[in-house]
Amino acid sequence: MTDHARHQESFTVNKARWDEVVAIHVASADYQVQPFLAGQDTLLPIEAREIGDIRGKSLIHLQCHFGLDTLNLARRGAHVTGLDFSPQAIAAARALAARAGLEARFVEGNLYDAPSLIAERFDLAYVTWGAINWLPDIKGWAKVVAKMLKPSGELYLLEAHPFAFALDQVPPGGAVGVRDAGAPLCPTFPYFGAGVPIIFDSDTTYTGDDTKVENTRTHEFLHPMSDILGGLIEAGLTLTSYNEHDSIAWAMWPLLVEGADRMYRMPEGHTNLPLSFSLKARKA
Ligand SMILES: C[S@@+](CC[C@H](N)C(=O)[O-])C[C@H]1O[C@@H](n2cnc3c(N)ncnc32)[C@H](O)[C@@H]1O
Repeated sequence: MTDHARHQESFTVNKARWDEVVAIHVASADYQVQPFLAGQDTLLPIEAREIGDIRGKSLIHLQCHFGLDTLNLARRGAHVTGLDFSPQAIAAARALAARAGLEARFVEGNLYDAPSLIAERFDLAYVTWGAINWLPDIKGWAKVVAKMLKPSGELYLLEAHPFAFALDQVPPGGAVGVRDAGAPLCPTFPYFGAGVPIIFDSDTTYTGDDTKVENTRTHEFLHPMSDILGGLIEAGLTLTSYNEHDSIAWAMWPLLVEGADRMYRMPEGHTNLPLSFSLKARKA
């Protein structure tokens, strides 16, 4: 491992949690494995619309979890590689590829080690929905992305908006991340997080399943937009598109309402907020 060894405690805590939730997620209706196996494209509407024609392109899906989106992208004609540090996730991804009869390579490893673990360089890097909040060093992440791309290769990033990440619906004096539908939505976490982990403690996962997990702790990191965009610029990438969205892929707070498109939005009558953002950035 690189100089990210100093974040080993966060990696160890998070990996244990991710290993444990893989089986819950594979079985969860939220993740749409059965519709996918029946032939449905289960990408959510934003990425389905924005990813464009990827036929014949080589693509690396960073932090691919159990490979569902990676395999959706394979079905769309890309030559895919997924990377994740959870051995359980990688085993489940390989099993899912076999069940779906799709070609894909899955590599187990820490994001920061990707350039040394994978020799190939790619036309596209794909990073979506709840990936960069697990990474302590966003500028280091941008350098990894740039290293994994071929010249003229492009990153597609679709993530929770850092402004939204700084808010939460927790009663006054309540424990970090223990949300309450009756609590107001308030600024809760420091927007300029400076690489310090926010430590959450929750015995269930975000899919809504009530299965209790043993590894309750997670270390997450809030990166201000200036560090995300600045990191990409410093890594030599040029922004080619940028969008903000009023919807997000999961019930980030209890007040959000799920739509028919499986996306969550602010309820009627409440002011709208940027819940997610997406961008494309090209390597020179
Ligand atoms: C919310 S999931 C990403 C979801 C993804 N959009 C998908 O296709 O399902 C976050 C993933 O990041 C992985 N992860 C977290 N920290 C990592 C790290 N330092 N290196 C590699 N993978 C990591 C976890 O194992 C988990 O599978």
